[in-house]
Amino acid sequence: MAILVTGGAGYIGSATVERLLERGKQVVVLDDLYRGHREAVPDGVPFYEGRVGDVALVERILREHPIESCIHFAALAYVGESVNEPARYFERNVGEGMAFLGALVKARVLRFVLSSTCATYGEPETVPIPETCRQWPKNPYGWSKLFMEQILKSYDQAYGLKFVALRYFNAAGATAQHGEHHEPESHLIPNVLAAAMGERAEVSVFGTDYPTPDGTAVRDYVHVTDLADAHIAALEHLAKTGKSDFINLGTGDGYSVLEVIETTRKVTGAAIPIRKVARRPGDPAKLVADARKARAVLGWTPAKSDLASIIQGQWEWRKKFPKGYCE
Ligand SMILES: NC(=O)c1ccc[n+]([C@@H]2O[C@H](COP(=O)([O-])OP(=O)(O)OC[C@H]3O[C@@H](n4cnc5c(N)ncnc54)[C@H](O)[C@@H]3O)[C@@H](O)[C@H]2O)c1
Repeated sequence: MAILVTGGAGYIGSATVERLLERGKQVVVLDDLYRGHREAVPDGVPFYEGRVGDVALVERILREHPIESCIHFAALAYVGESVNEPARYFERNVGEGMAFLGALVKARVLRFVLSSTCATYGEPETVPIPETCRQWPKNPYGWSKLFMEQILKSYDQAYGLKFVALRYFNAAGATAQHGEHHEPESHLIPNVLAAAMGERAEVSVFGTDYPTPDGTAVRDYVHVTDLADAHIAALEHLAKTGKSDFINLGTGDGYSVLEVIETTRKVTGAAIPIRKVARRPGDPAKLVADARKARAVLGWTPAKSDLASIIQGQWEWRKKFPKGYCE
């Protein structure tokens, strides 16, 4: 039996495919390469270039492979872009997501893991953020993921689709083969590393007046390999218990923007000039997970997610592949 991984040519998807293969799993990848890289999918893995909303293609994949479950990474995932182009986010993440789910349900593929996000919480009422926290996203990206969560809940009740929606905090780090290569890049660590490589003159620090110890925003960074392992644990949980759930993936620890920059200076030895600028609208001060449920339900704890190891691994990947996947 095989696992269908959508978005498997992207950052977290490719690291998860790598981990699944290490465990001897059969994997099929569907990705339209809009933001992913063909080179990120290992040779020998069946690869389909196309959209998850292309029902004829999805039905063909389901006919050609014995798919028993699905990990659904494929989505657009930039907060700022979603504010400027909400239609594209709702069309791709929700419209295509629904078409895709319809094809899976029709073919009785009823185990599903969704890449959800802490962006569904918006400005959280409590930090660390438990799964029971009110969800009220501050941007179309977060809403698109929350809609998918609600759709899954309804499909479970009506059609028996069993799911785990994993609400990731900040994915970071690299494996020896797979790293973060987004164009454009909006995430902090790759941009700080670009400055360390001399590709950027400086790093903008958005907001230095937050109610945090050093005034900069605090985030919870999880190593991409730890995220990958959580997906495998979620699939095992579904196979064993058949119980749907919503689960945070974080460490429970947060690091400020300045701490990330300082750690990167230590790891790389580079000066990394910064420029302090105004807050970005809609950026909460602190997003840190209450990570206890993942441990209790999935038996998952992050093993590689200390900040220095995350940055060290990502730095090594950047040095090995200075142009990312465009070698
Ligand atoms: N990176 C993070 O910190 C983070 C945090 C929370 C949630 N997430 C979620 O995790 C998932 C993966 O994130 P990532 O950082 O690896 O992003 P990514 O852009 O690197 O990967 C997404 C992949 O999906 C593909 N894709 C997009 N829309 C598609 C469609 N309609 N049909 C087929 N393929 C499509 C892209 O080409 C890309 O390869 C996303 O769903 C994102 O919302 C990411």
